[in-house]
Amino acid sequence: MTDAASPAPAVSLELRDIVQEYPAADGQGVNRVVDGLSLNFDRPGINMLLGPSGCGKSTVLRMMGGVRPIGVTTPTSGEVLLDGQPCHGAHDDAVMVFQRYANRPDLNVRENVAFPFRLALWRKRVPVAEARERVDRLLEAVGLADKQALLPSQLSGGQNQRVALARALVLEPRILLMDEPFGALDAQTREEMQRLLVELYNRRPCLVVFVTHDVTEALVLGDRVIVMSSSPAGIADDFSIAEPRPRSATWQRTTEKTRLEERVLSHLHQAGARGQVRVTL
Ligand SMILES: Nc1ncnc2c1ncn2[C@@H]1O[C@H](COP(=O)(O)OP(=O)(O)OP(=O)(O)O)[C@@H](O)[C@H]1O
Ligand SMILES: [Mg+2]
Repeated sequence: MTDAASPAPAVSLELRDIVQEYPAADGQGVNRVVDGLSLNFDRPGINMLLGPSGCGKSTVLRMMGGVRPIGVTTPTSGEVLLDGQPCHGAHDDAVMVFQRYANRPDLNVRENVAFPFRLALWRKRVPVAEARERVDRLLEAVGLADKQALLPSQLSGGQNQRVALARALVLEPRILLMDEPFGALDAQTREEMQRLLVELYNRRPCLVVFVTHDVTEALVLGDRVIVMSSSPAGIADDFSIAEPRPRSATWQRTTEKTRLEERVLSHLHQAGARGQVRVTL
C-alpha cells in the first residue's frame, strides 16, 4: 500500500452453479440452502450482498474465501473459480472481516494488526521491514497510530473494527470479504466506518464482497448490489450504481436513490425479510 492510489489488481472470482446442503437440524436428511447459484466478479469493486436472514449469505461468502465448516463438504456441488482456475479449499488471495472483529484480547492494537505476519506463510512472503512499514501505514490510515499500545478491551466497538480492518488490509489482499462488518455499530460510527472503507478502497482497490442488512449502506457503498432470495438461495436482483463515491446527502435524496431503495426493499419483502432490514433515514 502506498499513499498514492495503487493500481487495481486484476482479479476474477466466479461461483458456478453452486449447490450447498447442510445436515438437517433433526438429523434426518439434508437441508438445501443454496440451489444452483451462479455469480461472477471480474474486476475490483465494492459488491454489496443483501438477503433475508438465514438465506445463505455467510455460506456463500465463506465459500468465496475457501473456508469450510467442520464436517461439511463445501460446496456440495458446483465450482468456485479464482482467476478462472477451480479453487479447492482455503486460498490466500482472500481475507475476511466479521461483525465480531476477532481481535486477540491479549495482544495490543499493533500486535493485532501485525498478527498475520506471525504465520510462516506471510513471514516468508513479506520481509520484516516491509511488514513493519505496512503496519505503520495501516495504523495511521485507520486513525489508531496513537492507540497502538492499547488492548482491545480499552477500545470502542468502532475502534476494534478499525483494528480488524487494518489486520485484513495489511496483507494487501486482492479479495476482501466482509460479513456484516459494521452491523453492531451505532449509526454515526457505522457512517464513519463506511467513509473509512471508501478511503482505504480508493487508496488500494480490490474485489470487495460486503454482506449487509442495511439497504442504505448497500446503496451508499456499492458499485454493484446483489439481492439474494431464500429457501433455497438464488439471485433476486443484481444491478450496478454508477454514481461516484462519496455519495452525497443530495444524491441520497434523489429519485434515483429512492427508486433503488424501493427496488431492493420489494425483493427483500417478497423474500419475507421485513423485520430484519434496516434503512437509515
Ligand atoms: N455448518 C452448518 N450446519 C448446518 N446448517 C448450517 C450451517 N451453516 C449454516 N447453516 C444453515 O444454512 C442456512 C444459511 O445460513 P447462513 O449463515 O449462510 O445465512 P445468512 O444469510 O448469512 O444469515 P444471517 O443474515 O442471519 O447472517 C441457515 O438455515 C443455517 O442454519
Ligand atoms: Mg450471515
